[in-house]
Amino acid sequence: MKPKVFVTRQIPEIGLARVREVCDLDLWEHEDPAPYDQLLERVRGVDGVLCTLTERIDEGLIAAAGANLKVISQMAVGYDNIDVRAAHARGIPVGNTPGVLTAATADLAFALLLAAARRLSEGVQYIRDGQWTTWQPRHLLGADLNGATLGIIGLGRIGKAVAQRARGFDMNILAYSRHLTDEEARAHGATRVDLPTLLHESDFVSLHTPLTPDTRHLINRETLAEMKQTAILINTTRGGTVDPHALYAALRDNVIAAAALDVTEPEPIPLDDPLLTLPNCLIVPHIGSATVKTRDKMALMAAENLIAGVTGQPLPTAVKLG
Ligand code: GLV
Repeated sequence: MKPKVFVTRQIPEIGLARVREVCDLDLWEHEDPAPYDQLLERVRGVDGVLCTLTERIDEGLIAAAGANLKVISQMAVGYDNIDVRAAHARGIPVGNTPGVLTAATADLAFALLLAAARRLSEGVQYIRDGQWTTWQPRHLLGADLNGATLGIIGLGRIGKAVAQRARGFDMNILAYSRHLTDEEARAHGATRVDLPTLLHESDFVSLHTPLTPDTRHLINRETLAEMKQTAILINTTRGGTVDPHALYAALRDNVIAAAALDVTEPEPIPLDDPLLTLPNCLIVPHIGSATVKTRDKMALMAAENLIAGVTGQPLPTAVKLG
């Protein structure tokens, strides 16, 4: 008998096809995520769950799945939606998809950086509002990348890939990570600094740290106040790393110049969120890894983790807690 698995979202077909080869697949049939109570029902008795960042996989859900559950495979690199400790306490490994989305996410971070620096969304709106009547010598002036300082918070895989791109734009790079050494920073063309120095000296600050209790609202009223008035904040990690109320006030009051966000708190951002009223805040809907090839690779990798778990093999990429 094939192992029974539940896949919580309509992931790319290449991943589903691989899962079907080995497993008896129950697939959430709608495009939108399942409500929590539906998840509780669908996981009951399964051998494995393949989920995404839109599902809350907490202790209650792990318990509801029952004694057959052998693996939780997340199609994402971040896993702050999963109670990994609760899973590990029951001997259930958790898989994620590191590496395959590094380049796509770094590209998006850089796209946001460029868009905010050169005020692209304001320019688009200007045309749509019928205001483009002539070339303007002093209008929509943005910030140069060349010679500017980029502060990278979290020099992990994606942070390093962002540094690689920044070198191509002749930027100076500062980096802050908890366990970063001078040598490692130098190997990526960056200078290791402490967080206050990074905030004081950077023209652009890009967040690449996972969301943990330590990084929750790392960017808040105090840290925003330490940034340059001309600084631009980029967030492609998790919305929870930034206090959205503090960010709104800082952008409204010109404490910093602009922000470009791929992630928000909460997600999706409610339509009446005041951040959406600000011309200096560019927001896109969590599309860091959203390229055809990257999502295919993530789906396949999540499928392989799932299959390994339900067949009693070590997961190719398992989450390890420090
Ligand atoms: C996307 O945000 C991911 O963690 O893969």
